[in-house]
Amino acid sequence: MSRPRNDTFLRALMRQPTDYTPTWLMRQAGRYLPEYCETRRRAGNFLALCKSPQLACEVTLQPLARFPLDAAILFSDILTVPDAMGLGLYFAEGEGPRFERPLREEWAIRDLSAPDPHDKLRYVIDAVAEIRRALDNSVPLIGFSGSPFTLACYMVEGSGSSDYRHLKSMLYARPDLLHHILGVTADAVTQYLNAQIEAGAQAVQIFDTWGGTLTPHAYREFSLAYMQRVIAGLKREQDGERVPVIVFTKGGGQWLEDIAAIGCDAVGLDWTTDIAQARARVGAKVALQGNLDPSALFGTPESVSAEARRVLDAFGNHPGHVFNLGHGISQFTDPENVTALVETVRSHSRAIRVG
Ligand code: CP3
Repeated sequence: MSRPRNDTFLRALMRQPTDYTPTWLMRQAGRYLPEYCETRRRAGNFLALCKSPQLACEVTLQPLARFPLDAAILFSDILTVPDAMGLGLYFAEGEGPRFERPLREEWAIRDLSAPDPHDKLRYVIDAVAEIRRALDNSVPLIGFSGSPFTLACYMVEGSGSSDYRHLKSMLYARPDLLHHILGVTADAVTQYLNAQIEAGAQAVQIFDTWGGTLTPHAYREFSLAYMQRVIAGLKREQDGERVPVIVFTKGGGQWLEDIAAIGCDAVGLDWTTDIAQARARVGAKVALQGNLDPSALFGTPESVSAEARRVLDAFGNHPGHVFNLGHGISQFTDPENVTALVETVRSHSRAIRVG
């Protein structure tokens, strides 16, 4: 296995110079693409799609066939890990993810253990290997996991939530129980990401979607500390190549210096942070990834291009920027606007470098 022919994304993560700013989009394979909906229909449902390495590979490649993107991301979901821990994941139509057995009882929490990724998550590891074969070293493949805290939110709550009442009750009333869940989950995430890296993931991203709902103190204790523990246990080199780690805490813009200090190579930014100020705060210590508002893609091709140029100009002519959205792409996005986005990032970032 060698370096991909297009290594712009990996170079940017390592803060090395690139000819243009590489781009990938969170949730780049998803319902805004008619071909994704077609494959999902053939699979029967979303989970069946995740559990078929062949179909997961097919949808991973779909956005790359349409747009000149600089990285592929494994098609899966963060909630496969708690599913493998026995919580019983399902998707109620139109209602998002649910668990049959949320973690509410102390005995169930004490019973929790980290699943062997080569057994219970074999389908993900097989998908990684299959995608690497299909990519044939064209662009790098990103593996991912949820952060221990974000996974715990769904595990305790049993679904998405507007206030995470059960989780936060546990955090304040029984922090020992939450720490136990987070410790086991951090071990699970570490083993899962290492299995993805061994199977061919060339960079990994930790999605901390809900860390930003915590107080600064609780963020450090319940989210950041466990991401640091995961990163400390990761294989950072595979086949002689560095495997960069990206940490994305949605709503984490106020803690950038803290996030940059946990051993990651890049920090993801949502759209509420000024990327020029973010860059001034972290310097060249880490790369920055982001930070176009996903809703900007509801505009016209012209307004999309203008917003993309604004982000690129704000970051300026330094190495270490990976262009992305500040959160996942909406299912209501017009693919034409994605074309305008990706083309503008290519051409405008080249122009900035020339001068
Ligand atoms: O980025 C990619 O293209 C890789 C695939 C990916 C998915 N989910 C596919 C998906 C990734 C990286 C995720 C991560 C994920 N999943 C997160 C963290 C990032 C974030 O968005 O905050 C979270 C919180 C989840 C949990 C999850 N999965 C939710 C809340 C939902 C429902 C929301 C929705 O859009 O319906 C999912 C389902 C899901 N995961 C879909 C996709 C493409 C839509 C499912 C479908 O096709 O019906």
